[in-house]
Amino acid sequence: MKSFRRHRRLRQNRGIRRMVREHHVSPDDFIYPIFAVEGKGLKTEVPSMPGVFHFSLDRLNEEVDEAVEAGISSVILFGVPEDKDACGSAAQAEDGIVQRAIAQVKERYPDLYVMADTCLCQYTDHGHCGVVKDGQVVNDESLHILAQTAVSQAQAGADMIAPSNMMDGFVLAIREALDRAGYTQIPILSYAVKYASAFYGPFRDAAHSTPQFGDRRTYQMDPANAREALKEAETDVDEGADMLMVKPGMAYMDIIHRLRESFHLPIAAYNVSGEYAMVKAAAAKGWIDEQAVVLEMLTGLKRAGADLILTYHAKEAARWLKEGE
Ligand code: PBG
Repeated sequence: MKSFRRHRRLRQNRGIRRMVREHHVSPDDFIYPIFAVEGKGLKTEVPSMPGVFHFSLDRLNEEVDEAVEAGISSVILFGVPEDKDACGSAAQAEDGIVQRAIAQVKERYPDLYVMADTCLCQYTDHGHCGVVKDGQVVNDESLHILAQTAVSQAQAGADMIAPSNMMDGFVLAIREALDRAGYTQIPILSYAVKYASAFYGPFRDAAHSTPQFGDRRTYQMDPANAREALKEAETDVDEGADMLMVKPGMAYMDIIHRLRESFHLPIAAYNVSGEYAMVKAAAAKGWIDEQAVVLEMLTGLKRAGADLILTYHAKEAARWLKEGE
């Protein structure tokens, strides 16, 4: 006589559940985003991102110390400059905010892995990720500036360049410029698959990078498209990307999964600002169990196929994981 399958046998206690667990989240998976601003004595909370702050350089170490203490081994730095202009000149300044932040963090923690986000939107007065001409974000004219920005970040000591601008050809332009400058060993984590997403809203508050006209739909991807993600990723692999990113995370887990099946490079998922803000808001209302939800979400991203996760929850999640051991 045929009996039914007893799946619950392998769930009946913590020991067996641990033995059959397929995916694990670890602090080694996290890349923690940190914002550096001009000024002195500043630790200013981003209103739409409770727990995320802008740090002036004289206070930046406080945050980096905490992250290292929590067990974080990699950070990504974003600069919020004071002066913006039409072509984002401050992005590549030797003494620019992010260049100084990178140098400072590397000096304090030579072994902490420091990534630099390479984009122009924080640095341009119009808030677009490339150069604007006649009301259009122009592609090829933006590449040189982005490449120079990447080189300046490598010069400052960045261990990896993470370009997020979504211009065509940005990986190749940056790879060539890095190589020419002698940085053949600096890898590129391409934000290869970046959607034109409403989930970036809180980040734009944080980075003061909201486009002053139009939107980013002429360069970021349409959320309705999946095959196009493979095309984008393929191009960036061809151009020399060392790792690929999918962004945002939660609403795009199918995309992470598809990339995982199609490519052999490490894949990062960006658990973006809007995802963070939703969790924080619901937790503040007492509507969800924050710790459980965050760990479940991060596990979901791993299960979908992400090797690495950029997340504002990194510091807290690393602590929870340590406590849970
Ligand atoms: C810069 C950039 C953005 C994010 C990371 N790099 C914003 C954007 O494209 O508008 C968003 C990150 C987040 O929402 O957490 N281009």
